Amino acid sequence: MWRTISYVSTADPSLTNAEVNELFKFVKKNNNSKNITGILMYSDGNFFQVLEGEKDQIQSLFEKILLDSRHYDVIKIFDRAIPNCSFSQYHSSFIVLGEKYNHKELQHFLREEKSHNPDNYKNISYLANKFMKLS
Ligand SMILES: Cc1cc2nc3c(=O)[nH]c(=O)nc-3n(C[C@H](O)[C@H](O)[C@H](O)COP(=O)(O)O)c2cc1C
Repeated sequence: MWRTISYVSTADPSLTNAEVNELFKFVKKNNNSKNITGILMYSDGNFFQVLEGEKDQIQSLFEKILLDSRHYDVIKIFDRAIPNCSFSQYHSSFIVLGEKYNHKELQHFLREEKSHNPDNYKNISYLANKFMKLS
């Protein structure tokens, strides 16, 4: 069983840019080693994250994330099953995007979502673009 969870949250105001970068580095490494894919973005003191992977792993990771004091006011956007076909092959790596980023990575992620998880695509693309002030 495969699952995807997405949420937005507010970063703890005391979190420094260096700490956000540390978190990004940790998340990328940890998620790639566990075949968890998706995206984590930070903009203007808020996080937006999409997690995709094996159901139990995603659920227990999300429970940990909920308890993390580096952010609060976590609002779930969706939490649903996804087909497992070719799943971990299409996103080659977990993507992290800070304020200064190459938006090509985001567009690539969105294109892949559109073909593999069309149900998620509309929500994600609207929010991700708004979040990064691209539209
Ligand atoms: C906004 C936000 C997003 C996070 N995303 C992830 C993630 O995708 N993967 C991950 O392993 N940890 C993530 N974390 C960190 C976890 O909350 C937790 O600190 C980490 O998994 C280490 O847990 P452990 O010490 O129990 O291994 C995130 C934390 C925050 C604040």
